Amino acid sequence: MEEALQALKVEASSDLAAIAGANDLEPFRIKYFGRKSPFALLMRQLGDAPKEDRPRLGQLANELKNDLQLLFDDKKASLAHGAGEASDIDLTLPGRMQPQGKLHPVTQIMEEICEIFEGLGFTVAEGPDIETDFYNFEALNIPAHHPARDMHDTFYVDDSILLRTHTSPMQARVMETKEPPLRVIAPGKVYRCDSDITHTPMFHQVEGFLVDSNVSFADLKGVLSVFIAKMFDESTPIRFRPSFFPFTEPSAEVDIGCVMCNSKGCRVCKQTGWLEILGAGMIDPEVFKKVDYDPEVYSGFAFGLGVERIAMLKYGINDIRLYYENDLRFLRQF
Ligand code: FA5
Repeated sequence: MEEALQALKVEASSDLAAIAGANDLEPFRIKYFGRKSPFALLMRQLGDAPKEDRPRLGQLANELKNDLQLLFDDKKASLAHGAGEASDIDLTLPGRMQPQGKLHPVTQIMEEICEIFEGLGFTVAEGPDIETDFYNFEALNIPAHHPARDMHDTFYVDDSILLRTHTSPMQARVMETKEPPLRVIAPGKVYRCDSDITHTPMFHQVEGFLVDSNVSFADLKGVLSVFIAKMFDESTPIRFRPSFFPFTEPSAEVDIGCVMCNSKGCRVCKQTGWLEILGAGMIDPEVFKKVDYDPEVYSGFAFGLGVERIAMLKYGINDIRLYYENDLRFLRQF
């Protein structure tokens, strides 16, 4: 019986190898796996074999059946994939592309801003989103109960911890660990309880500051004008508008001509023709005193850019909230 099983294996294997098309599969299956197959016949004869040989022969028969089944399944699969016979599949067609992720438009703009300032010799510093009242306010000459705190719409964690409302805390954090000359930018997320077409509760700023001896407002104007010309183009209208920040004196807000309406006045620029993109000024001597810099020796300027505002102007987006709705139809355009 053992020999009969081996012979059956050889015969079935060569029959299987000879199969060239899917039509030959079923006759093979009936011949070797059907109720009247030589294999079924041999299994029925197993009962006549000597008792002590039955387990071994039974195991051999099972192995043979399993091996044959695997070979048969392989053959079926390879024929289904077109191997071995002419098929309808056009192998020259390109494959389906995997969707590819991209950087968020705000991240792209933030990287572009950082590259421009790095080109001007600034180095990048990063700090915490969850900030202390000291760095966010006190160190910036905004003591408790100062009216300027109201402008910040702060999210407080507790009395002394908050979500930073601007990247300016990085001025004190860097200055207390380094000596001038300094040329630093600090990009990051900031938070304010604020939402409309030009405001979101979480947005991004890039802080920049330069401290040295004999730094003047003209240096600030020069650096920001170069930045705006590189970010937009040389012809972009810029205006420096007098403003107030407790940590700079004098202070200014910088607007650029609204690209949405070509400075004619629209919903985005609130009919003014201008959109504010940053706050800036000469660092107040009180800030230097907090970090033990001598204001008689050093002077410096600082600025804080709103990244989403710049991205809106650059891409012609008329509602800042679109950046955070996660609508792929919007995001795929960038
Ligand atoms: C500040 O945050 C100051 N820290 C900037 C500064 C730094 C002044 C250094 C002087 C020296 P302000 O609150 O104006 O200033 O915000 C700066 C910029 O952030 C704005 O010009 C605007 O572009 C952007 N911005 C402000 N609030 C929002 C908001 N809710 N959503 C999106 N962008 C905003």
